Amino acid sequence: MRWNQLLIAALAVPSNALVRFHCSQLVTQRLDPLVNPGQTPSSHVHQIVGGDSFNATMDPAKDVPGEATCTSCHSFSNYWTAVLYFRHQNGSYKRVPQLGNNQFRTANGGLTIYYMQDAIYQPNQTSKVTAFQPGFRMFIGDVAARTLEQAGKFRQLTYTCLDTFVTRSPELIAFPERKCAEGIMTSLRFPTCWDGKNLDSPDHASHMSYPETGTFESSGPCPATHPVRTAQVMYEVVWDTKPFHDLWPADGRNPFVWSFGDATGYANHADYVFGWKGDALQKILDVPCHFATNCSEYGVKMQSIDKMNACTQKAVVKEDIDGWLQELPGGFQASYGPTSA
Ligand SMILES: *[C@@H]1O[C@H](CO)[C@@H](O)[C@H](O)[C@H]1NC(C)=O
Ligand SMILES: *[C@@H]1O[C@H](CO)[C@@H](O)[C@H](O)[C@H]1NC(C)=O
Ligand SMILES: *[C@@H]1O[C@H](CO)[C@@H](O)[C@H](O)[C@H]1NC(C)=O
Ligand SMILES: *[C@@H]1O[C@H](CO)[C@@H](O)[C@H](O)[C@H]1NC(C)=O
Repeated sequence: MRWNQLLIAALAVPSNALVRFHCSQLVTQRLDPLVNPGQTPSSHVHQIVGGDSFNATMDPAKDVPGEATCTSCHSFSNYWTAVLYFRHQNGSYKRVPQLGNNQFRTANGGLTIYYMQDAIYQPNQTSKVTAFQPGFRMFIGDVAARTLEQAGKFRQLTYTCLDTFVTRSPELIAFPERKCAEGIMTSLRFPTCWDGKNLDSPDHASHMSYPETGTFESSGPCPATHPVRTAQVMYEVVWDTKPFHDLWPADGRNPFVWSFGDATGYANHADYVFGWKGDALQKILDVPCHFATNCSEYGVKMQSIDKMNACTQKAVVKEDIDGWLQELPGGFQASYGPTSA
């Protein structure tokens, strides 16, 4: 596994351009316009943020920012991941609530987005990265992965056991096997080299690639097949596991499972649908706009957390996702992978 790389990512202190902003929850339900377009419901439960033009079908030709009336983020893009459930020893499941991230504590759940440039790790270099284009979307991870080897195809889809709310390391590839005082954070980093032609691909992933050698952070070159360097998109999601500490199973085993049944953590995955207005993202990437602190100096309009919280959608899939459930919505049960007894 690429532990060095994870360490580099965890320890590096940003000193240059770095966009980081929060997105409150838009809706939590079984819809997935990327992997299961047009299906209502889709296979498993997702937590979704971004523009309210999110829908079961999102044609790539759709004018995402034009059709949205509000966003729970700062752009009209949509970002989503699966949700976590707690599995009680008695076999019932209960959804794990989400928390606003560090510096965004009053946000209603959701996730934090980064658009990163590699130069942040090498302050003496300037980085030029290309923004995504209208219609662009991508997926990272493997819903079927249940072993470390299968998860090893991907870089930097991790879990952090939050001993404090600002803990950011170590990053793990599997679910933590202990109680985490302030919850569990998942960090999902997308690949950073684009083929320059396709806004999407049949598996929603192969139009993107990792650098040929090294890493994005170390300014590794993009392969000839995917020559266009993009910003690194990262999600951070904070799961409030504290309410379940008193219900911890007697065998001490990790009791959390993804909404599609993965109890190993190796199937961590994320979805992205681009929805910035015009060249707004490129403009941000071209200046040293830093966190949410000084981006307004560059004309980037940041919403207040209250405004982000106010943009929500009603779930169109009517089903119980929050009670004590006998099976995960969509009919899944916890699966522990081949090495498990
Ligand atoms: C979602 O799509 C359906 C069917 O096309 C449409 O009736 C509905 O208004 C759309 N919802 C949103 C929020 O755009
Ligand atoms: C399992 O335990 C939870 C928490 O006490 C309870 O609400 C739920 O009904 C139980 N399920 C079964 C099948 O007993
Ligand atoms: C930037 O700094 C790194 C680490 O100090 C050094 O290895 C590299 O040669 C420098 N690059 C330039 C372009 O000065
Ligand atoms: C914003 O912050 C970054 C990082 O500290 C800095 O390099 C940049 O000059 C700042 N921009 C303004 C306009 O203050």
